Amino acid sequence: MHSNDLAQLPLRQRIKARAERLFGAWGVFAKGFVKHPVMVGSIVPSSDRTIRKMLAPVPWQTVELFVEYGPGVGTFCRPVLDKLPRNATYIAIDTNPDFIRYLRKTIPDSRFIAVHGSAADVEAIIAQHGFAHADYVLSGLPLSTLPGNVADEIAQATHRALRPGGAFLVYQFNTFTNQLIRPYFDRVDRGYEFWNVLPCHLFWGWKADSETTAKRSHH
Ligand SMILES: C[S@@+](CC[C@H](N)C(=O)[O-])C[C@H]1O[C@@H](n2cnc3c(N)ncnc32)[C@H](O)[C@@H]1O
Repeated sequence: MHSNDLAQLPLRQRIKARAERLFGAWGVFAKGFVKHPVMVGSIVPSSDRTIRKMLAPVPWQTVELFVEYGPGVGTFCRPVLDKLPRNATYIAIDTNPDFIRYLRKTIPDSRFIAVHGSAADVEAIIAQHGFAHADYVLSGLPLSTLPGNVADEIAQATHRALRPGGAFLVYQFNTFTNQLIRPYFDRVDRGYEFWNVLPCHLFWGWKADSETTAKRSHH
């Protein structure tokens, strides 16, 4: 929008358009936080070091479907797309329609699909896009502050949605995720990143591959 076009708008919209232009992604994220603090959980997007560490264990060449919960303004989207194979798909699910609209506008990549919905419905959402399973699921959700037993439903649905050998990648400011996913995942690896606002706990919940499961059931 040009400054001339701005002059035609009512004052409130003019201020909003100026602020969006001025603050870009950060402005959209902060606005989301002000509207839904419990759902957004943090006022500052993840740091580069958190992103790098969280994604490091993913063997990218094997990925056909990568899913992200709570992408916000897309802090992880570009780094994931940079690593994702050309014919793979990336589904990002967020409950906030402002974030989804922003992602659709700013990430014009044919592998990327931004879905307005809840992570609890991941199985239906991936099925709608023709997939039986996801290879990796990344979560930026504020799991410890979600209402009722939504976090537990999300942990269970994610385990069902993952293929054997796949993993649930979670970053959080507290260690609640550990108790949450341990009952469902066969192995949980942990990490920590100090250089983040706030310092951040990382979890990788692995779903046993079919060979491991077969071996276990023999013993
Ligand atoms: C902390 S923000 C994510 C920040 C971003 N991923 C980053 O690294 O900068 C949490 C996001 O989770 C979204 N959210 C909350 N509950 C959700 C749910 N049940 N399903 C999907 N997204 C949800 C919020 O709208 C918000 O965008």
